[in-house]
Amino acid sequence: MRLLIVGGGGREHVLAWKLSKAKRVRKIYVAPGNPGIASVATCVNILASDIPGLLHFAEEKKIDFTIIGPELPLAMGIVDEFESSGLKVFGPNKNASRIEGDKSFAREFMAKFGIPAPKFAVYETASEALKYMKTTNKFPVIVKASGLASGKGVFAANNKREYEKVIDLLLVQHRLGEAGNRVVVEEFLTGQEASVFVLTDGLSISYLPSAQDHKKLYDRNRGPNTGGMGAYAPYPVNKRISDIIENVIIQPTVLSMRDQGLDYKGVLYAGLILTSTGPKVLEFNCRFGDPEAQVILPLVESDLLSSMIAVAERKLSDEPVKAKNLWSLCVVLASAGYPNDYRIGEEIEFKQKLDSRTMIFHAGTKMDDSKLVTSSGRVLNVVTVHENLKIAKQRAYEDVKKIYFKGMYYRKDIGNTGMKKMKRRRRK
Ligand code: GLY
Repeated sequence: MRLLIVGGGGREHVLAWKLSKAKRVRKIYVAPGNPGIASVATCVNILASDIPGLLHFAEEKKIDFTIIGPELPLAMGIVDEFESSGLKVFGPNKNASRIEGDKSFAREFMAKFGIPAPKFAVYETASEALKYMKTTNKFPVIVKASGLASGKGVFAANNKREYEKVIDLLLVQHRLGEAGNRVVVEEFLTGQEASVFVLTDGLSISYLPSAQDHKKLYDRNRGPNTGGMGAYAPYPVNKRISDIIENVIIQPTVLSMRDQGLDYKGVLYAGLILTSTGPKVLEFNCRFGDPEAQVILPLVESDLLSSMIAVAERKLSDEPVKAKNLWSLCVVLASAGYPNDYRIGEEIEFKQKLDSRTMIFHAGTKMDDSKLVTSSGRVLNVVTVHENLKIAKQRAYEDVKKIYFKGMYYRKDIGNTGMKKMKRRRRK
């Protein structure tokens, strides 16, 4: 088979690596890819948002199956375009992708079908949004741009002044353009966060390992939000919580989408918060998480490609995913200044040979005069797999120390929550 993977970050690198192991794969193209991906696939210089370009390439190269990595092309309708040209593709169509691409739609959907979620209100004008303050004194609150904003659309307002500022930014100054023309104001919840992933063909559901992302920049979950500074998998939850996630969140969501005429095929990513009153949905995403994909895909034991094709052909019940009983851990190496203004173009050096079992998935790298240099905020993902989470962590950090670029920053505490949880469980 000839595959095309759309995207060029760590998520697409791990997808290309995993799918390159499938027996029936003869050739993998990744658009646009990156220098790390180039070691397992052929990179083609087409942007993930260039749908006509991708379609033309897929037809010309007689691609048998296309996998869409990021949310933007999904929200733009790449699946609809490919399918109407008779091409097989993995991912939800434009309408179904609204579960991520239109946050007010997603919240209203959850409310309609009783999916546990924070209390919320949707506003389209600043005057309406400011009336909110007359009805409550509860801060902090979360303010989200309803549309896709490349990870920059979520704000925490700690008091009235901050709330007014965010509303002004989004609904008066329109700093996020169309994405911020509607805002969702949500109750602020506390608890551990977990990322749950399922494949679904709209009927059947197959669980991938869950994961815990580390969204804050600094250790002990402090500092600004980022795209994710590291992750481990699986996220350990007890049977009672996993039953709630399955029966009260995932199943009703998939069934209700079908009920609403939404044709959801692909991966559904539920970003959950485990509150004292049970798990609640912070957000649904219509694609794999990044860096979560880097830890969950190495744990897949069965043929991932067969399950993905089965999703596209609505035969997922024939090809469920099976996972290994191991832990995996990913440390993200980021550029100085990330997630704000960051430096790029720094040479990346591997000062010593890494452990042969460690996997490096590239996120923001490029070749510059035959040197590997940084090209984005998140640069490399260092991933280890082991039957013991503590050893997975030790190995990852030993190899992190062998990598260098000027200003390289990483969190030191990836996996600590998982280790604490396991310790508590052993004591019980
Ligand atoms: N790691 C968060 C995300 O992929 O949205």
